[in-house]
Amino acid sequence: MDRKFKRTLVTSALPYANGPVHIGHLAGVYVPADIYVRYLRLKGEEVLFVGGSDEHGVPITIRARKEGITPQDVVDRYHSLIKKSFEEFGISFDIYSRTTSETHHKFAAEWFRKLYDEGKLVEETTTQLYDEEAGQFLADRYVTGECPHCHNEHAYGDQCEKCGRDLSPTELINPRSTISGSTPVMKETKNWYLPLNQYQDWLKQWILEEHKEWRPNVYGQCKSWLDMDLQPRAMTRDLDWGIPVPVEGAEGKVLYVWFDAPIGYVSNTVELCAKDPAKWGSWQKWWQDDTTRLVHFIGKDNIVFHCLIFPVMMKAHGGYILPDNVPSNEFLNLEDDKISTSRNWAVWLNEYLEEFPGKQDVLRYVLTANAPETKDNNFTWKDFQARNNNELVAIFGNFVNRAVVLTHKYFEGRVPAAGEWTDYDRATMDEFLGVKATVEEYLDAFRFRDAQKEVMNLARIGNKYLADTEPWKLAKTDMGRVATIMNLSLQIAANLAIAFEPFLPFSAARLRRMLHMEACRWDTLGRTDLLAVGQALEPAELLFEKIEDSVVEAQVQKLLATKQANEAAAQAAGWQPEPQAADIAFEDFEKLDIRIGTILEAKPVPKTDKLMELLVDTGLDRRTIVSGVAASFTPEEMVGRQVPVLMNLAPRKFRGIESRGMILYATDAQGKYVLTSPAKKVPEGSGLK
Ligand code: MF3
Ligand code: ZN
Repeated sequence: MDRKFKRTLVTSALPYANGPVHIGHLAGVYVPADIYVRYLRLKGEEVLFVGGSDEHGVPITIRARKEGITPQDVVDRYHSLIKKSFEEFGISFDIYSRTTSETHHKFAAEWFRKLYDEGKLVEETTTQLYDEEAGQFLADRYVTGECPHCHNEHAYGDQCEKCGRDLSPTELINPRSTISGSTPVMKETKNWYLPLNQYQDWLKQWILEEHKEWRPNVYGQCKSWLDMDLQPRAMTRDLDWGIPVPVEGAEGKVLYVWFDAPIGYVSNTVELCAKDPAKWGSWQKWWQDDTTRLVHFIGKDNIVFHCLIFPVMMKAHGGYILPDNVPSNEFLNLEDDKISTSRNWAVWLNEYLEEFPGKQDVLRYVLTANAPETKDNNFTWKDFQARNNNELVAIFGNFVNRAVVLTHKYFEGRVPAAGEWTDYDRATMDEFLGVKATVEEYLDAFRFRDAQKEVMNLARIGNKYLADTEPWKLAKTDMGRVATIMNLSLQIAANLAIAFEPFLPFSAARLRRMLHMEACRWDTLGRTDLLAVGQALEPAELLFEKIEDSVVEAQVQKLLATKQANEAAAQAAGWQPEPQAADIAFEDFEKLDIRIGTILEAKPVPKTDKLMELLVDTGLDRRTIVSGVAASFTPEEMVGRQVPVLMNLAPRKFRGIESRGMILYATDAQGKYVLTSPAKKVPEGSGLK
């Protein structure tokens, strides 16, 4: 750590409590933050890790409205679900609180009031869409209408999900309020703005000059914002869910969610310090003392808020430290497709925990191995399986297991004393020490993927050492040498228990129990006296188990089903009835002889995929009708059904079979046929009138 800093405050983005968290959240923010924090703790540094749920904002009100419950119900449900998922994945927050807490409401309101009182906010009146029937202003998401670009009828006021373009609600053709369905009107409203433009030069100096070391994706995004003219940004909203604006005449307005949420980092710290001041000291020590180093872990859609807006809020308030780094990740895709909550295209953490109990570390490992640190990355179940089987099981797990099993076999489960090292032993340990320095360098630079790879290399070195020295072959002739090999192997295993702790905390803890390791300190990494001679081991226990093809295949099938459901829904949404045909005379209608018949037999016509040969009782006769519906029905579904038959269609031959008449079906949005029957059984041959 930079000498001027004495402690580190790590924050991770507060997830919206409007749905469960998925692998994208974990990979992008929480696992890297947790690795970093665990690493610092292992080094004995003073560190505080703050998390919590973001419980305000429009998406939560929309979800509540959709489900017919209150926004408070929504956030209560998801806050506890999210909190539990994080706990189970070992995300080691010192506090995980929520922005609906009393402490937070008070703290955020005071912050706003201070800026307001000191004239740091700009008051502005604008016209916004207003729902007269519901008596409220409409957030962009609450307006739908026709997209001016692709003419999708169901575009939102902020975005068209069909063509993906960003929109403003006033661009929509035929805008409608999703609350009442009425046409919104324009109405004047007053809000308070943060004049980002006044801070532009300061931001340029601070980021572009003083933080060139930030990740290129973060620096680049800041630069492209700062190369444009920053505009004042509204910090209040006309909405009834959030923190009321603490100003006279601001009834019906709340703080903008992106104003209050980052303040949540501070108010959660306030809550923690009040709870246990002996342990944590004052909250000001963490936020207002420039010997504290502040690091924000976020996803790339949060960069502007953490690098520009929140710093300006802190600067305007005064007294606060600024982030020293903002390691932001790009996005993780799932099986080559963008993760999406609304399309249910995700691996939800709560479901993973149920389907893969005890395998939290496997997911942590795979997500770090594929961390989207410099570009978007991809999660696939095949890769999940391969990394588990070929790396966790075959290298790390296998090495540890052999080391412990052989010690039980040859030395009654006690660490044997090492004799003199050979050159090969020395070379192995030298390689080991080199890896330690590299891991540190990577972790200090937030390169978690590279760091984990190096740690796995330590396991690889151990595995190779045992394979090369083959102690099981020496056991008959040279027990002294075997003792040295096993001692070294166990020391390597003990090193792995330390090195893997930030990445795979559950497995590392199990390994430490197996080895009866008391201490776990980063500065002892690389030492070969971690385990005392004569110390007893627990029986060997497998750290990882193979994942079978059928297990990942089931996950792929689950995703496939989601994809099919989505396609069906999309088609249904895009389905349009055919326009009405030209008028006909009544006499023309009278020419059609349509009656109800019963299907007696049905069989597919050989060598075709479409045709079905049906025998139909029409009341007048039993006749053969060939129908092109083999893709829509099985014969069993058809036999016994009553259906409308167009009787007097001129006979036609299909594949040599004469078809007399035509059966009428409905079609669904996907173009599949649907059987249509009279609401109750009627005599065969009764006419449709
Ligand atoms: N809820 C936001 C999101 O999921 C993140 C908020 S981060 C905070 O994108 F700084 F505002 F807390
Ligand atoms: Zn569109």
